[in-house]
Amino acid sequence: MTESSPLLQVRGLTVRYGAGPVVHGISFDMPGGAVAALLGANGAGKSSTLRAIVGLEPARGQVLFEGRDISRLSTAARFRAGIVYVPEGRQIVADLTVAENLVLGSYFVDARTRASRQQMVLDFFPEIANRLKSPAGLLSGGEQQMLAIGRGLMSAPRLLLLDEPSLGLAPLLVARVYERLALIQREQRLSALLVEQSFHAAARLATRAWVMRHGHLVGELGAEALKSREGRQQAIDAYLGAGEGAAA
Ligand SMILES: Nc1ncnc2c1ncn2[C@@H]1O[C@H](COP(=O)(O)OP(=O)(O)OP(=O)(O)O)[C@@H](O)[C@H]1O
Ligand SMILES: [Mg+2]
Repeated sequence: MTESSPLLQVRGLTVRYGAGPVVHGISFDMPGGAVAALLGANGAGKSSTLRAIVGLEPARGQVLFEGRDISRLSTAARFRAGIVYVPEGRQIVADLTVAENLVLGSYFVDARTRASRQQMVLDFFPEIANRLKSPAGLLSGGEQQMLAIGRGLMSAPRLLLLDEPSLGLAPLLVARVYERLALIQREQRLSALLVEQSFHAAARLATRAWVMRHGHLVGELGAEALKSREGRQQAIDAYLGAGEGAAA
């Protein structure tokens, strides 16, 4: 892969669950070293797209990672290639401790790497550092989201797929989670593809975004449009229209 070639290339991706497709042959290229976002209302097909990229849903079309076609690889093989998915709703294991949940994110790395990654994760998320022996189910919603992201970081991913990290969190906690992600992004040059309903939350991190509606990509926002509140509002009005303003 050359410096300028995309980290992730999605080509004609189609996902269907039975009847009609819910993702209709979408294509986009994502550069490395930055955060891009997939934005849209409920049911637009955002999670289905992420799940297809990691191989959790069967899909047509192609997914290229660092120039290599990974479309036929298992989810485990895509994980080993460096693509880590942090699912919607966190899905930490409530009965396991915080430390055990972190180990789950790094089962194939050696003990020394695991220890150093854990230290890094706990430095980024001090809220969970003194809760290592607590059952994860006892953490607050925001702490559980930090644990889920921390678990995703344990294997030193080359691409992190984040499905609605703001879901169910109070505004103050959304701000805190995003602040930490921004710090991690700067310090680790993290590459991430973020899914959000909220254009404003995503704009804290993303430098480009695609708008998804009814399984199609209907628009694209660059860094400038994302940075300005008016730019984001114009995109919401233009691409989602009245009545789909959940994206505010
Ligand atoms: N396992 C499934 N079986 C059948 N239909 C599904 C399944 N998962 C999702 N769908 C349908 O596919 C469409 C897209 O769902 P998806 O979860 O990808 O949307 P989303 O953009 O992530 O929405 P949200 O913002 O609400 O999470 C929806 O109509 C949904 O009902
Ligand atoms: Mg979703």
